[in-house]
Amino acid sequence: MRRAKISVIGAGNVGATCAHWAAAKELGDIVLVDIPDKEGVAKGKALDLFCAAPMERFDANVTGTADYADTVDSDVVIVTAGIPRKPGMSRDDLIATNVKIVKSVSEQIAKSAPDAVMIVVSNPLDAMVYTAWKASGFPTHRIVGQAGCLDVARFRAFIAMELGCSVEDIQALLLGGHGDDMVPLPRYTSVHGIPVTQLLPNATIQACVDRAKKGGGEIVKLMGTSAYYAPASGAVQMAEAIIRDKKRILPCAAFCENEYGVGGYFVGVPCILGAGGMEKVIEIELDSDEQTLMDESISHVKELVDIVQKTFPELAGKVSV
Ligand code: NAI
Ligand code: 2OP
Repeated sequence: MRRAKISVIGAGNVGATCAHWAAAKELGDIVLVDIPDKEGVAKGKALDLFCAAPMERFDANVTGTADYADTVDSDVVIVTAGIPRKPGMSRDDLIATNVKIVKSVSEQIAKSAPDAVMIVVSNPLDAMVYTAWKASGFPTHRIVGQAGCLDVARFRAFIAMELGCSVEDIQALLLGGHGDDMVPLPRYTSVHGIPVTQLLPNATIQACVDRAKKGGGEIVKLMGTSAYYAPASGAVQMAEAIIRDKKRILPCAAFCENEYGVGGYFVGVPCILGAGGMEKVIEIELDSDEQTLMDESISHVKELVDIVQKTFPELAGKVSV
């Protein structure tokens, strides 16, 4: 049986950690791609990771390269190329640099791995998913963005810390863009089936919501660059759902035409991920406060996409849906 193939573009903190989690899960052969100046880094990290295989017992090739020819026949491509934020920066401050990088990467992937599902991680996330869609010409079901898996995992982790219970027993839902205006939904959050509102006071739940919204910034402040263990775990969870056709319901930046009143943008929503990529957006009922927060988040995503369209007018206008 042919092994799956996962290409990870960008061999920095998030990219190398994606390779690590994917190898640990024995998801398939892994190709780490970086720019020619960093080819040695991509090759070195790949070799280092492969040398762990006899101890960690995974049968997967891990290789590094600067040549997109090595990504041919990839089933999944995870795009982490681009600069991360430094203390004091917002994700949005990265747009001018990263739109160029993600555009160029997506154009190359469209040539070398035209049948892959692309999982975009580079920030500002929702605008970079849009960029990858336009630049690659991929149909919308084969482009998704990783943010919700991370953001909801942070929310779950903070609730588990408050309750002193296993993170495994926390189920939660989160919508919206990957910014400080993301929308965690306490009304859809439960602990082993028990609504969280029965277990924690509102003020504590709200503190977990706020901490999840600012979780990325909290880590940047602590270590001077952005997080990578949990972001990479989110991307690999999505890759696993696709490669193993698990039909998992995960929060992803997915293309919404009419759902949630989005109107043709990629925004964080629960969706089914399987072999076909993003197979279905799941719409849930929102009360008027939740819809207001969602609308605010959507309008922020639209502002960022507007910047992308002004920077590269050729990325405006609709392509394949
Ligand atoms: P990093 O600086 O450690 O690695 C980025 C890598 O991309 C570098 O090795 C760089 O050489 C490479 N790169 C730049 N241009 C490239 C190109 N044209 N082709 C191939 N590779 C290229 O940064 P890190 O921490 O890995 O973050 C990567 C991106 O992921 C950032 O934009 C960051 O903001 C974003 N991020 C997104 C998260 C999310 O949840 N969506 C969470 C964490 C980070
Ligand atoms: C995070 O949320 C920076 O998007 C990155 O950690």
